[in-house]
Amino acid sequence: MNTTRRTFLKTSTAAVLGFPAILRAANPNSNLQIVAVGCDGKGLSDITEVGSHPKAKYVGFCDVDTTRFAKADAKFPGVPHFADFREMFAKLGETFDGVIVSTPDHTHAPISMAALRLGKGVYCQKPLTHTVWEARQMRLAAAKAKVATQMGNQIHSHEAYRTAVKLVRDGVIGKIKEVHSWLGNPGNKYTGLTAAPTPGPVPENLNWDLWVGAATMVDYAPDVYHPFKWRDWQHFGAGTMGDFGCHILDPVFTALELTAPTSILAENDGVNTFTWPNAETIRFVFPGTPWTTDKTVAVTWYDGARQPDLALAQMPADKKLPGAGSLLIGEGGTLLIPHVAPPQLYPQEKFGGFVIEKVAGSSHYHAWVDAALGGSKTTDSFDYAGPLTEAVQLGNVATRCPGVKLEWDAAALRIPNHPAADKLLTKEYRDGWKIAG
Ligand SMILES: NC(=O)c1ccc[n+]([C@@H]2O[C@H](COP(=O)([O-])OP(=O)(O)OC[C@H]3O[C@@H](n4cnc5c(N)ncnc54)[C@H](O)[C@@H]3O)[C@@H](O)[C@H]2O)c1
Repeated sequence: MNTTRRTFLKTSTAAVLGFPAILRAANPNSNLQIVAVGCDGKGLSDITEVGSHPKAKYVGFCDVDTTRFAKADAKFPGVPHFADFREMFAKLGETFDGVIVSTPDHTHAPISMAALRLGKGVYCQKPLTHTVWEARQMRLAAAKAKVATQMGNQIHSHEAYRTAVKLVRDGVIGKIKEVHSWLGNPGNKYTGLTAAPTPGPVPENLNWDLWVGAATMVDYAPDVYHPFKWRDWQHFGAGTMGDFGCHILDPVFTALELTAPTSILAENDGVNTFTWPNAETIRFVFPGTPWTTDKTVAVTWYDGARQPDLALAQMPADKKLPGAGSLLIGEGGTLLIPHVAPPQLYPQEKFGGFVIEKVAGSSHYHAWVDAALGGSKTTDSFDYAGPLTEAVQLGNVATRCPGVKLEWDAAALRIPNHPAADKLLTKEYRDGWKIAG
C-alpha cells in the first residue's frame, strides 16, 4: 500500500488523538504542507505565526485581491498564487495537508468545510462561522474527518487567559455565581451605516464575485466592505459580539466548562436589517457546572457604551473597569479578566497579598502544526470552538429578535418558541455555493 504524505499525517495524528487508525512508519522529517486563504490583514499574521514553526511549509497562497499577496510573498517568497480556493484545492490535491482560513466571517464555513471533506487540517479564524448552523456542521465535519483543527482566537493560549482559568479552577474565589463580559465597540463602528451603501465600480484588483462567495450577491460599494469593514454588515460579519465574543467569552467557557445556553434574551438601542446595533445587552443562561454555585449560571454580554455595574467588581473606588473583559462573581470574591492583561482579584482587603501563580503561554499557531504532525491535541479544536461559536452566534440571533427570551434546544438545533429567530440559525446560500450539512 502506498503511503502518501496526507495519509501519513492523517493516520499518525489520528493515533495521537485516540482515533482508530492504521499506524504507518513515522517520518520525523515530514513538513506540514500548508495553504493559506486570505493573505493580508489577520491572514498575514496567521501566515507569519504558523510559518515560524520549523516544519511549516507553504505550498499555496489564495486571495481574491491581487494587491494582498505582497507582504506574505516578502516573508515566504515563491509560493504559488490563487484567487479561488476551490481551484487551489483541486490543483494542489494531495500535496497539501492543512489550510489556514483568514477570510471574512461569511466565507469561513464554505472554505473550511471543503477542506475538511478533503481530509485536511484546518486553522480557522474566529468566529468559527457566520451562523449557528454552520458552527454545528463544522464541529461534526471535523469529528468525522479526524484531522487537527484550531480556531484562531490565539489569546486562548496566552498566559493571561490561562492564568485566569487556573484561578477559577483552583477555587480562589469559590464557585461562580454569575458572569459579566463586555467590550466598548459599537456594532457598526467602522461604517456608521444603518442602510445599504451607495454602489460603486469594482476595483480591477478585486474579484468581487469570489469575495461574496456563498453569501447572496450584493453590489460592490467602496470603503464599506473590503477590506476589514465587512464586520459591520449582518450579511458578511458578526458585529461586536461576533468579532470579540469568541475572544472574551473564551476563558469563561474554558474555566466553567460551559456547554449550550438554554435561553438567550437580548435588548439593544435599535436594530435594522443591514448592520449590527450600536449597543446591546445579551443575557445567556447556561446549565450549571461543577464550577458554578447553582443549577444555572447567567452570563451577560454588553457592548457599545454599555458595561456591567462597577459595584459588582468590588474594586477600590479609584479603579475603573477596563475597556473589555469579563467579571466573574464568585462566592468568595471577584475575578476580573481584562482583555488582554493579567487577571485581578477583588476585594483588595482579601486578595491584596495574594500571589497569583502564572501559567505560561505558548504558541496557539504552533500547537495546530504540532497536532497536525501528530504530537499533541489542540485545546481549541472545533469540538470546543463549535459550541463556543454557537453561543456567540445565538447572541446575534437574539439581538435581531430583541425583547423575547429565546429558548434554545441545542440537541434539535432549534429555537422552538420563536419561528423568526429559528430561521436566523441559518441563511440563504448562493446557487452553486450550498454547504452540505
Ligand atoms: N484572532 C484575532 O485576533 C483576529 C484579529 C483580526 C481579525 N480576525 C479574523 O480574521 C478574519 C479576517 O479579518 P481581517 O480583519 O484580516 O479582514 P480583511 O478584510 O482585512 O482581510 C481579509 C483578507 O482575505 C481576503 N479574502 C476575502 N475573501 C476571500 C476569499 N473568498 N478567498 C480568498 N481570500 C479572500 C481579502 O482580500 C483580504 O486579503 C476574520 O474572520 C476576523 O474575524 C481575527
